[in-house]
Amino acid sequence: MKRLFLFLFILILIVPRTSAVEGMWLPMLLEKYNIEEMQQKGFRLTAEDIYSVNQASMKDAVVRIGGCTGVVISGSGLVLTNHHCAYGSIQSHSSVSNDYLTDGFWAMSGEEELPNPGLTVTFLVRMEDVTEKVTGLLREDMTENERQAAIALASSTIEKEAVEGTRYRANVNAFYYGSEFYLFVYDLFEDVRLVGAPPSSIGKFGGDTDNWMWPRHTGDFAFFRIYADADNNPSSHSENNVPYNSPVSLPVSTRGVSEGDFTMVFGFPGVTNRYLTSHAVRLITEVTNPHSISLRDRRLEIMDSHMAMDNVVRIQYASKYAGVSNAWKRWKGENLGLARIDGIGKKRAIEKEFSNWANDVPERNSYAYLMPAFDSLYTELEKYTLPRDYGREGLYAIEIIRFVNEFSRLLEIHTSGTGEQDLPGVTDLLRSSAERFFRNYYQPIDRDVFVEILEMYRQNVDPEFHPDFFLTIDNEFNSDISLFAAYVFNASVFSDKDQVMQMIDILDVSEISGISEDPLMLMAKDIRSVYENNIVPAYNEINQQITVLYRNYVEGLRLMEPDRAFFPDANRTLRVTYGNVEGYQPRDAVYYNHYTTISGVMEKHSTGIADYDITSRLIELYENKDFGDWDVDGNIRVAFIASNHTSGGNSGSPVINGDGHLIGVNFDRVWEGTMSDILFDPDRCRNISVDINYVLFITDRYAGAGYLLDEMTIIR
Ligand code: ARG
Ligand code: GLU
Repeated sequence: MKRLFLFLFILILIVPRTSAVEGMWLPMLLEKYNIEEMQQKGFRLTAEDIYSVNQASMKDAVVRIGGCTGVVISGSGLVLTNHHCAYGSIQSHSSVSNDYLTDGFWAMSGEEELPNPGLTVTFLVRMEDVTEKVTGLLREDMTENERQAAIALASSTIEKEAVEGTRYRANVNAFYYGSEFYLFVYDLFEDVRLVGAPPSSIGKFGGDTDNWMWPRHTGDFAFFRIYADADNNPSSHSENNVPYNSPVSLPVSTRGVSEGDFTMVFGFPGVTNRYLTSHAVRLITEVTNPHSISLRDRRLEIMDSHMAMDNVVRIQYASKYAGVSNAWKRWKGENLGLARIDGIGKKRAIEKEFSNWANDVPERNSYAYLMPAFDSLYTELEKYTLPRDYGREGLYAIEIIRFVNEFSRLLEIHTSGTGEQDLPGVTDLLRSSAERFFRNYYQPIDRDVFVEILEMYRQNVDPEFHPDFFLTIDNEFNSDISLFAAYVFNASVFSDKDQVMQMIDILDVSEISGISEDPLMLMAKDIRSVYENNIVPAYNEINQQITVLYRNYVEGLRLMEPDRAFFPDANRTLRVTYGNVEGYQPRDAVYYNHYTTISGVMEKHSTGIADYDITSRLIELYENKDFGDWDVDGNIRVAFIASNHTSGGNSGSPVINGDGHLIGVNFDRVWEGTMSDILFDPDRCRNISVDINYVLFITDRYAGAGYLLDEMTIIR
């Protein structure tokens, strides 16, 4: 008997608890909903240490940078984020002779740090629940449009009041489909400089082969620095600016992670759809994802073949390619994951439970209409879903069409004569738009994409939604899309940068004659006419009605389970998610360890696969065991996984241990768990982070930029 108890006791100790916690929580509500659980999991600080308006707190070190997150890790505004978040900036400073994408970039002093016009860093100053202020102005009998107008008005008043007399910016965001509202006050810095980035063979190691996968060996990190004016205030880029004197920075812990350790991720997740019904999941998995995937399949193949042949094109399209392939692969993973856990079935089960609950007692009958209403609205939506996906992922994925649209929009400002834009202003805008577009444009790619997409559109989209030029193709080009493409690209002024620039010069003195007859202009107009008249309005109108259903549905769910905290979907506002370092079982009989090491980099390299190319310098460091102070048990840790519920936008988010120290940088999710935006499976959803030791090792030993480490507080 005693033995049995002992055995059970040991079993309890060694069997890892599945401890994943679903949810992305608002920092100001941690005290109310989460802190107890966080502390049980191993967090040793308080909710006030994470978010406080009265004292410096961790949130003062977390920034939004571009579409990503970053963390301040020195008193001089040094920001750590992902390599893939810095990718566009690195590309913009790169050329064939100065190829920072391939070779990496390291400023060896402040003077060498590179400015990035357009890139900003935002801190959250404070947040506030303004639900009552907003909903106080709403009436039951308002139409949805009236309701939205009232919300917009209330929000803008609240925003104005919140920042009056300050340099801050404010934003009111809707939560739970518009039943709660929070105000966010931000401080924005515009002078952000690139400090360091490893070569892509480290920062993007594994490339698209390993993207969204574990085991992973990517050193996905880069450094920026925030600059401020002499008084430490935000300022646009200037030679006179100095490194920002940051009041809070996160200390870095190099002790390495163990399975079971507490972790939290603090950042700005973009969009999740946790409360979608089975109808929506069906549309996503059966219509939107498969069609979007196959459209991108073709674009990627086309880009790939051209990029492989020409180094200039490779650099021009590097960032575009990464962007296109990233979502493409995520959709594939999402579909697999949802199929595997029977996402639609799981959703139906909840819906059944909900309907039973709603029909149970008369007071709840106001929720009983929801499921039938979802049924009928989603049936209506289906008709417009495919054409809309084919617009977004197809016709509007043709680069020249997007450019021509922007051009006509600017031109319209000019010809509409509202007087708001004077002519020189418009021509300047047109010139810079053309400069920007042609810098990274390679027509042979776009032309191949054009032909391919039109072909697929013709085959898969109901003729009701075919733009008029398909008639021209049939009548004048013998239904041959390639012939049509040859004509369009030959005859349009838009296919040649010099001609576009000359046209803008003429505009300086007179109207451009014949522009409205340009074949690409005409095509773009046909597309807009179908998309903006016959597809989008209906699609949006139905979706607006669906949103009202979701508002009531989530309200009902919260009543049905009053003791459960329902986290609000991500919406680019600051969130905390927490869990533990833990491996997982991707499939039968296989268990994935929670961390990877540099030995794994070498193993992958030896396969000869191009995405696993590395430099001889890295091999040398490895063979000489030149690990500096950054090894854990004699090896360099590269990445680790944990059960934190993250999403797109969490890239670059600090991963923090129980003592509030930085242990890694979040950059991805595992393949078996990419469906977590829709359904979170605690057994398989894991976020992937670069181990901070790898960041320090590469910066110090590989790049010789160890001087940056002197700025940090390193806890060994
Ligand atoms: N999947 C990660 C994210 O969603 C990393 C993407 C960048 N890497 C790439 N190979 N495209 O951002
Ligand atoms: N790589 C993603 C990003 O850019 C984060 C990973 C994820 O989506 O979980 O934000």
